[in-house]
Amino acid sequence: MNLTKNIPDMSKVTHPNWIEINLDALHDNIEFIRSMIPPKTKILLPVKADSYGHGSLACAFAAEASNVDFLGVAHMTEAILLRQYGVQIPILILGPCIPADFPYLIEFKLTATISDMHTARNFDEYLHTVGVKAKAHLKIDTGMHRYGVRADDFDTIRAILSLKNLEIEGMYTHLATADMAGNPNTEKQIDRFTRLVNVLAVDGIKPAICHCSSSAGTLLHPESHFDMVRPGLALYGYNPMGTYPAPWPIKPLMKIKATIRTIHEVPAGEGVSYGQYWVAQQPTKVAAVAIGYGDGYLRGEYNKGFVLIRNQLCPILGRVCMDATMVDVSLIPDVQIGETVEVVNGEADPRISMEALAEEHHTIPYEITSRVARRLYRKYYWKHRLLRWDDLKAEFKIPEFKEFPYRA
Ligand SMILES: Cc1ncc(COP(=O)(O)O)c(C=O)c1O
Repeated sequence: MNLTKNIPDMSKVTHPNWIEINLDALHDNIEFIRSMIPPKTKILLPVKADSYGHGSLACAFAAEASNVDFLGVAHMTEAILLRQYGVQIPILILGPCIPADFPYLIEFKLTATISDMHTARNFDEYLHTVGVKAKAHLKIDTGMHRYGVRADDFDTIRAILSLKNLEIEGMYTHLATADMAGNPNTEKQIDRFTRLVNVLAVDGIKPAICHCSSSAGTLLHPESHFDMVRPGLALYGYNPMGTYPAPWPIKPLMKIKATIRTIHEVPAGEGVSYGQYWVAQQPTKVAAVAIGYGDGYLRGEYNKGFVLIRNQLCPILGRVCMDATMVDVSLIPDVQIGETVEVVNGEADPRISMEALAEEHHTIPYEITSRVARRLYRKYYWKHRLLRWDDLKAEFKIPEFKEFPYRA
């Protein structure tokens, strides 16, 4: 049997749920950030974790087209994926470099993060042996205590900066509390980094790209901008301070949509969904919507939250299941099976924004967007046109690499 004969054109199969990614919003958010930093300050877009769930290839190409200077990933595998698909701009691997990375850093022209003396020396010796030079950024620990050389360990920092084959093009730190308004730790970390930059400057040493701030630092602490900023969440359009709308003109990239699969009447006294945590007080019209925790929609607590159908907020009833969520549609008399449901869309109603959903589940927008499941179909908008994956490949001249398990 020829199995391929039985595979239909998947773009024509109707999708029970999907995400819409507005790449024009990414472009506009980049322009906004650019307007608030000095003209020579560069922008790095973190595209790790599949661009926080928005699709690392699509976002990388849109960022490249929007003249972003650097991309940031966490791991080597994420960086190689981007290079295999033809992404050209500098890629900084934000996670600490290990010796197994050395050959790939050179082959794929990637920029490593050096977090300790031992690896720095190893890399320098490796480069000497193979007869090439490579660029890296030195990570400084100013108080996050995750990665990096301590900001007051001047001897180690000077020693790493003086290596011959390893060119330390950048030096950076990461702020732990910039999204917590008024937290004195932020100032302390910025001060430690500034002091280090100044101490080195006395010796005439200045790594070309010093950087410090992610979204909250970029938006709230201009003194942390240095030579490059690394805002992720803000460029994806969510407020790092947690409220919607944000007090800055940033637009969310992601909308989550689903369809109604069934509509039925639940008699008074009957419970709905696993555990029967919601019991009808009166006959209630209930719709089962094709979105569940298998799609990344958080199960969390029961009887909490809303979806939007025809601009009407519909409360979630009982527990979110793996593939379905039941909602009260009593207020929409002629509601139909197959109708589109706005699951997350802050622009349609702030009460279903990513920020509101995150607050309801005691988490952060990052966790929700980065856990959106691959089974949701992706619709991209670029230059105000709807692009499917094939259109996107044509638009950005993306080559096909079938061996990779994920894409866009
Ligand atoms: C080193 C580094 N820089 C920048 C970012 C971007 O952070 P945000 O999305 O809060 O802007 C992250 C995210 O975790 C990070 O780890």
